[in-house]
Amino acid sequence: MAEEEKQSVRETAAPWEPNVVGFLCNWCSYAGADLAGTSRIPYACNVRVIRVPCSSRVDPLMILRAFREGADGVLVSGCHPGDCHYIEGNYYARRKLIALKQLLDHVGLDPRRFRVSWVSASEGRKWAKVVETVTRDLLEAGPFHYEENGDDQGRAPGRG
Ligand code: FES
Repeated sequence: MAEEEKQSVRETAAPWEPNVVGFLCNWCSYAGADLAGTSRIPYACNVRVIRVPCSSRVDPLMILRAFREGADGVLVSGCHPGDCHYIEGNYYARRKLIALKQLLDHVGLDPRRFRVSWVSASEGRKWAKVVETVTRDLLEAGPFHYEENGDDQGRAPGRG
């Protein structure tokens, strides 16, 4: 390939965008995200939403699998503590996710890659702000490379 063609390909290649998997509870955060959309609030389109009945439905293995399958970051969002549609679901979720976060910190995962946020159905603006923050943080952190044995860059949970 001629040098001019290579330059042309580089110029037209899309810049890297973070790929974020978002687990959203049906009753609050999903509705909040929907409100952001219907209110036409502009925000980054990097989050691929997976709707779950409640934040307590999110198993830590689902989060690890998202990373393994290519996510650069994972966001879990549910009702505010005390507002869960299933009364105590988000309290269970909070305990599980705190434990997972500690584990991920321990194995060296960049803390910007995993985030938990409580967003209600009326908080479309907050949802947009959370997504903007997560996206900006991941743009700074760069792409995630899952490596089975991990490395000194704190990139991957592994056996290293
Ligand atoms: Fe939203 Fe439980 S229903 S966190």
